[in-house]
Amino acid sequence: MNILKAGFIKDFIKIADDGYKMGWHECNGGNLSYRLREEDIELLRFSLEASGPFINIGTRVPDLAGDYLAITGAGSFFRNISLSAYDNIGIIQINDRGDAYRLWWGLASGRGPTSELASHLMIHSVKKRANKDGQRVLYHCHPVNLIALSFVLPLSNKVFTRELWEMMPECPLVFPEGLGLVEWMLPGSLDLALATSQLMEKYNGVIWAHHGLICSGEDFDASFGLAHTIEKAAQILVKVLSMGQGKVQRPRARDLKALSDTYKLKLGQEFLIDND
Ligand code: 13P
Ligand code: ZN
Repeated sequence: MNILKAGFIKDFIKIADDGYKMGWHECNGGNLSYRLREEDIELLRFSLEASGPFINIGTRVPDLAGDYLAITGAGSFFRNISLSAYDNIGIIQINDRGDAYRLWWGLASGRGPTSELASHLMIHSVKKRANKDGQRVLYHCHPVNLIALSFVLPLSNKVFTRELWEMMPECPLVFPEGLGLVEWMLPGSLDLALATSQLMEKYNGVIWAHHGLICSGEDFDASFGLAHTIEKAAQILVKVLSMGQGKVQRPRARDLKALSDTYKLKLGQEFLIDND
């Protein structure tokens, strides 16, 4: 089977294109990964071929032992993924000890997987532990408005969640558990991976202050949709703040509770307190 015809690769390429068109992927900004299902692997069994040695990950992810992942390459431009997927995406497999990976397909450009590999693998590990069949797609992007807000809003889960929830009812519906936030950390570092994966125990979206956003979802639509919703709310908030009056009116905790009761949401209780 031609791997480029596999459904998950088509979805992978589509998200890369969609994200690029949104303006969230300057140069090589952003990265994307998908943990393959049994049926994906079965379908590709005769098309995948191990190439090269095992390469150390720099951390251990024993929960992912034996798993295959499709992942963008370090330095890959999202705008080039649909033009040349074989160069810019790879399929890797994690070894039995969970401390190394090997390439099975793609990354023909000679690049290794994304520099944020540790974050991707540690988050996949958290999500797989929570639900083996659950979330499989991790999407990291550099959305303009959200990054801008990280320069002016206090850097806390509470402030970002509540501010964005208030922007449109879709927000509490799409991210009822709220959002995590890490202060600026070195891109590609183990510290960033550790802090983010800890927050992903609770949240599906984590803001990287002055850098971007990483979202987890059960499929490509869920991951991209979460990023899209967060960034749209951020865009509204930037406009509101730019009008210079602050918020003259806004939904209160009781309004969010009513939304929660009607739509049976499990809203994070810590975000349901009005501070004024
Ligand atoms: P990569 O090209 O290594 O994926 O890096 C892009 C990025 O956004 C790092 O945070
Ligand atoms: Zn980045």
